[in-house]
Amino acid sequence: MSRIAFRSKILHFNDDPAHTGAPGTIMAYDDGVLVVEDGRIAALGTPEEMADLTRHIKVQHVPDALIMPGFVDAHVHFPQVDMIASYGKHLLDWLDHYAFPAEIGLTRFPARARDTAAFFLDELLRNGTTSALVFATSHAHTVDALFNEALKRNLRLISGKVMMDVHAPDDLLDTAASSYAHSKALIKKWHGKGRLGYAVTPRFALTSTEEQLELAGRLLHEFPGVLLHTHLCENTDEIARATELFPKACDYLDVYKCAGLLTNRSVFAHGVHLSEDERTALASAKAALAHCPTSNLFLGSGLFDLAATQEAGITLGLGSDVGAGTSLSPFATMSEAYKVAQLRGHSLSPYDAFYLATLGGARALHIDRHVGNFIPGNEADFVVLDLAATPLLKRRLGHANTFEQMLFALMILADDRVVRQTWVAGKLAHDRDA
Ligand code: GUN
Ligand code: ZN
Repeated sequence: MSRIAFRSKILHFNDDPAHTGAPGTIMAYDDGVLVVEDGRIAALGTPEEMADLTRHIKVQHVPDALIMPGFVDAHVHFPQVDMIASYGKHLLDWLDHYAFPAEIGLTRFPARARDTAAFFLDELLRNGTTSALVFATSHAHTVDALFNEALKRNLRLISGKVMMDVHAPDDLLDTAASSYAHSKALIKKWHGKGRLGYAVTPRFALTSTEEQLELAGRLLHEFPGVLLHTHLCENTDEIARATELFPKACDYLDVYKCAGLLTNRSVFAHGVHLSEDERTALASAKAALAHCPTSNLFLGSGLFDLAATQEAGITLGLGSDVGAGTSLSPFATMSEAYKVAQLRGHSLSPYDAFYLATLGGARALHIDRHVGNFIPGNEADFVVLDLAATPLLKRRLGHANTFEQMLFALMILADDRVVRQTWVAGKLAHDRDA
């Protein structure tokens, strides 16, 4: 048995603070001890409460630090790290000019797919992200590349082959039948291997025929453990095109619903322009949304209505959506989520933001039985954040009088420099100072 313990400020959530004020929802320790045993959370409490458990080991005391669960990126595209920050287009042109060419690039050169996957995962770890729901490309070898690299790093990660049989460059197109067959083979190969999971991944309504969407629905039916991952209501031109292509559907979400893709294991990126009916349908299906604020701002897609989403009771996580998103840092995502909410007349509290970036995302991805908070028995994915990482942050936090003020300044000011260490299943996976 291997037991390690850390003493510092500690934060995690047992539930969604936007929906319950019950005691124990927010667990914030000014001085706490986290005990990890054989890669899992063993216990958490005050130094006095943990005295017995830590009697025979050396507790690593990290003053000026905050320990919290590893972040969860609920929507990101690994092939697009190579074209992040590409200038001047809105969604549909941006896809044609930047996203599709980047994906074609990986498709032609398997070695580049492996290299990009390795770089992408190391970047996630450097930013404190320990779990993610990830788009690959429409070619199975890019999924293999990502899962192989994730397996090496023992990450709890979910991905899938993009299904896309129409309205995209030939090099990226599959067919309904081939996308079904290749997805099925990948599910059998990867789903449940190590800490990996599979998501059936039709890109979005615009690039799939009805037949392909229906076969995606069949996969969900045949493999009840896998997720559905796609885009929804991101951009007004996209929505107009979707309803044009699928005239029988009463709205964009209905395109997916008709194909059996609106389920309690579905994760939809964006949802910037949802109708009330669509929000109600998402909530009653217990489907999840990934809010991607840096992407929505960068592409000029619109301002996500966080308050309406929370009121509807929709499961919600945060996504970087790189390469349309402008940063892999969950702090950038939280900070922009705050500003988008401000423009919508709503204030995103720091507790809500850190919840969304951890347990909220884990719930959206159905991995909250394993990660997302510090319940004993959970896999020990956590970060050690350096509260004195920059002179400004150190100075500002010196003026923070409460835990909440400290968290808020952190979510606005922090970036990858703050991530001192990232631990994956109880093992050190990134050490900033190494
Ligand atoms: N909609 C369909 N594909 C994409 C993509 O790659 N990025 C974003 N942001 N939206 C999409
Ligand atoms: Zn996306």
